[in-house]
Order: sequence, then C-alpha cells, then structure tokens
Amino acid sequence: MGILVAIVVVAICYIVWQKWELTKFGVTEYEVSSAKLKYPAKAAVIADLHGFSYGRGNQRLLRQVRALSPDAIFIPGDMLVSKYPDTYASAFSTLQELVKIAPVYYSYGNHESRLRDVEAAQHPLFLQYLKEVKGLGVCVLETESLEIPLGGNRAMLSALELDLAYYEKGRVIPLEPGYMERRLPLERPELFQILLAHNPAYAKEYAAWGADAAFCGHNHGGLIRFPGIGSLISPQFTWFPKYDSGKIQLGGCAVIVSRGLGTHTFHIRIFNRAELLSVKFLPTEKTS
Ligand SMILES: [Fe+2]
Repeated sequence: MGILVAIVVVAICYIVWQKWELTKFGVTEYEVSSAKLKYPAKAAVIADLHGFSYGRGNQRLLRQVRALSPDAIFIPGDMLVSKYPDTYASAFSTLQELVKIAPVYYSYGNHESRLRDVEAAQHPLFLQYLKEVKGLGVCVLETESLEIPLGGNRAMLSALELDLAYYEKGRVIPLEPGYMERRLPLERPELFQILLAHNPAYAKEYAAWGADAAFCGHNHGGLIRFPGIGSLISPQFTWFPKYDSGKIQLGGCAVIVSRGLGTHTFHIRIFNRAELLSVKFLPTEKTS
C-alpha cells in the first residue's frame, strides 16, 4: 500500500512538473563570426513551434522576440502539426505578429512537407494557410536561395526542403551524393551563406555544401536530456541522435540546432527546456 501511494505521489508530481515545464521557454544566445560580414547583425530563430502558444496569442514569445530587436527572423520549419489543422491558425496568428518585428524567412520542416504531398488529406487547408502566410509578407522558401539584407550586410539565404524519405523513422538514411549541389547550387560564395535546413542529421553535408551558418531543429532536443551526455531519442525514433542541440562547428560552418519551441505527440521535455535562439553575427578581420 505504501509503495502504491508513493508511486501515485511521484506520478502526480511528474505530471504537474511537466505541465509547468511545458509552459516555459528560454533564450539561448549564440555568436557566429565571419570575415564575410562587415557589420554586426542579429537574428531570432524560431524552430518547431508546432502551433504552440506561450500565453494568449503567443504574447510571451512575441514579447521576447521583440526584446531581441532582430534584423531577421529565421524559421527552419515545423510551425504546425500536419494532422491538426487548429495548429495552422495558431501558427498563422504568430506569424502575423512576427512580420511586424522583422523580415520573416520561413522554410519547410517535415510537417509542412507532408502537407505539400498531393496525397495528404489536409492539403487544401495547408495551401490556404500558405497563401495567407505569404499574404502577410512572410518570405516562404522551398529549396532555393535569395540575397537578403542582414544588419547592413548582404547575405545569401538558402533553404533546403528534404524529400520525406529522409525523415524515415528509426534510422538516418545517407544523403544521396550530390543531393544538395543538384537541388541548391551555391550562389555568390563571396557572401555570408545562411542555410535553413530542418533536419540536423545532415549537418556535415550542410557544411560541405558551403554554409557559413546553418539553422536546424526537428529533434526537439531529444525529448529527454541527460545532463553531460545528451539526448535520448529523436522524433524519428532515432536513439541518441548525434546532432540534437547546440552549436556544432564543422570547419568554417556553424551548425546551430534548436531544441525547438513546441511539442507534439509526446508532450515531454525533461531537462530539455524549449528555446528561442538569439544569434549574433559578428564581423572578423579578413586574414590573407
Ligand atoms: Fe520536424
């Protein structure tokens, strides 16, 4: 009887703690330096919001983004949950406010890609969402590049929409050789190259392609994190995902993986607080 009571008390404490934990997010700051930059700049990165709302109308998240005064807002995918259309409305209302803060650049995660699949049941609703999002002035990127202003600099922003096959559950499928180069030829290599690529499993390929900074999400920090060790599992059921969170320096490329801001299916975050990223871009001296 005593053990049963203890289990019930622990279970209640766990549920209350998780409910509380899932209402919070932190701001994680990063710096990326490059000789290709002339002026400092700042970006906010919002990954894997999944239609989540921090307060009514996402006011707590929006307040924090405003406080950062970013030059740009980058969204590397999964603003919604593909099978829950109510999350489209929440994502839309957040985007509606974000465009008032700074230019918003939005690339697709696996949830958006799934809805772009012509077989997807929710396809018409998603197309309507997409039309309205573009109508707000959000720059929605498929697999493409464009030159953007970034705090006085000119930079190249590229987005990669991976084929859904690369989101297969339980394993990481090697990226087909030349996949990125064929779909996304590197343009203006003299400019600072920013890549929005939802899936961090291919961080090495993003660096080899020529990115100076790549922003990823998808793994939600691995649901459960072990301090000093890392994460347990990715949303694709890959155990101990290699690139789960943080900044990974691969040669000249800083791959920054967000733990994300929302959850879906498994609403668990243990030692794995949601995060908004604040990224400072800093010029460095050219070395010859
Ligand atoms: Fe994802």
